[in-house]
Amino acid sequence: MRDDGAMTGRLGIEKRSTLPEHEAVYGPLPDVGKRHGRNPGVLVDEAEKAGLRGRGGGWFPTHLKLRAVVNSSADRGRLARTRHPVVIANGMEGEPASSKDAVLLAHSPHLVLDGITVAARTIGATDAFLAVHRDSPLVPGLEAALDEREAAGIDPLRIRLVTPPARYVSSEESALSHWVGDGVATPVFPDRPFQSGAAGRPTLVQNVETLAHLALISRYGGAWYAGTGASNAPGTTLVTVGGAVQQRGVVEVPTGTTVAEILRLCGGPAEGVRGYLTGGYGGGWVAADGFAEVAWDPESVRAGGGVIGASLLWALGDSVCPIDEMSRITAWMAGESAGQCGPCMFGLPSIAEDVRALALRQSYGGDMRRLTNRLALVTNRGGCKHPDGTSRFVSTGLQAFAAEVDAHLTGACSVASQRSTDPAFQLPVPAARLALLDTSGRDFT
Ligand SMILES: Cc1cc2nc3c(=O)[nH]c(=O)nc-3n(C[C@H](O)[C@H](O)[C@H](O)COP(=O)(O)O)c2cc1C
Ligand code: SF4
Repeated sequence: MRDDGAMTGRLGIEKRSTLPEHEAVYGPLPDVGKRHGRNPGVLVDEAEKAGLRGRGGGWFPTHLKLRAVVNSSADRGRLARTRHPVVIANGMEGEPASSKDAVLLAHSPHLVLDGITVAARTIGATDAFLAVHRDSPLVPGLEAALDEREAAGIDPLRIRLVTPPARYVSSEESALSHWVGDGVATPVFPDRPFQSGAAGRPTLVQNVETLAHLALISRYGGAWYAGTGASNAPGTTLVTVGGAVQQRGVVEVPTGTTVAEILRLCGGPAEGVRGYLTGGYGGGWVAADGFAEVAWDPESVRAGGGVIGASLLWALGDSVCPIDEMSRITAWMAGESAGQCGPCMFGLPSIAEDVRALALRQSYGGDMRRLTNRLALVTNRGGCKHPDGTSRFVSTGLQAFAAEVDAHLTGACSVASQRSTDPAFQLPVPAARLALLDTSGRDFT
């Protein structure tokens, strides 16, 4: 990072940093001032000035979440057993096509850990956790980083590494809180974690990238932070770029950078691009036409027909059948539900069947009307947003690839004869995935 405003990346993802290297670049962890009763530490005001919005998918204003946890805790009174807040850093990266959080945690673990510490102090948390999924290759590096900090004695509160099951919904914030509190990684509703999270305590769940940005704000202030990026969501953002580009990977750019520029940083398209998947499997498809000029910030991406979500930009090349890819992913998403609400148990499998029939070119117009009805029926009806994300994934795909849908309805496919056997999107192997209930290695009540 440089002081002259030139962007070399604020988040330090270029190479792995040890604690001394991290402190040489960013300086020591600042004292942000702690919470007193209803008054959080000053970092909340700085986060508001910064305009920081969460990078876990929803881009929700971070200062509002910090304040909500403090108020929820203060409302319980001094004697309530469950009054002390909990912080959970969400490094689960449940979106299979995303790798931005893994890259951040592998290269700049101390910035994330700084963020956990300053967030905990600001809201008066007495327990702090960093969650990455079970069997994650990040675990040894994160344990080493935590050991470095313990030896240096820099964290007033011990940060515990936890490894919930690697399932799509186990990283939804209420599921993560449920797992930390009770060892069950299913979403809980209607209360949100700030109201009743881990073991019934007010719980702050923030994406690891959000916490890394918060650590920067704690050092350099909100005004500095807001000095770059789009006015609706200032700062920089990590973007996972995949699919038909010369060099797939993770880049850090100021929010508001155009899609064309992000693709250029990845060497440009590797073939003709038919469309883009934005945000993740719970995000949305857009047709390629005109999308390169769109700025990468939440509102501009939405206006361009997409969803910034977990900041995934995936170029779907001309050599791939979009309906085939949608079919595989929809079936996988249907299998990832927690099986506790109607839209997930009955709606998603039926939607997956309809998309499969379309991919196999066995559908006709009536089937499409049924699919459209089913997509509308699951929206806003689940305990969490999993059905909404899956429905949006399919409905935006049907719009973005309308010409290919029409071709399939007549029994044709524009790429069937030339397609390679490799699927474009990788999906975790179902057999390797774990159950949602697992209490091993937990010691938190
Ligand atoms: C099905 C589902 C899966 C999710 N998976 C993740 C995830 O892997 N990582 C993440 O940070 N947020 C994930 N989220 C969003 C979280 O629920 C939560 O909003 C986020 O961690 C909050 O952090 P932020 O405010 O810093 O964005 C998921 C949401 C849903 C509905
Ligand atoms: S909507 Fe689906 S994933 Fe979400 S809580 Fe209900 S069953 Fe679980």
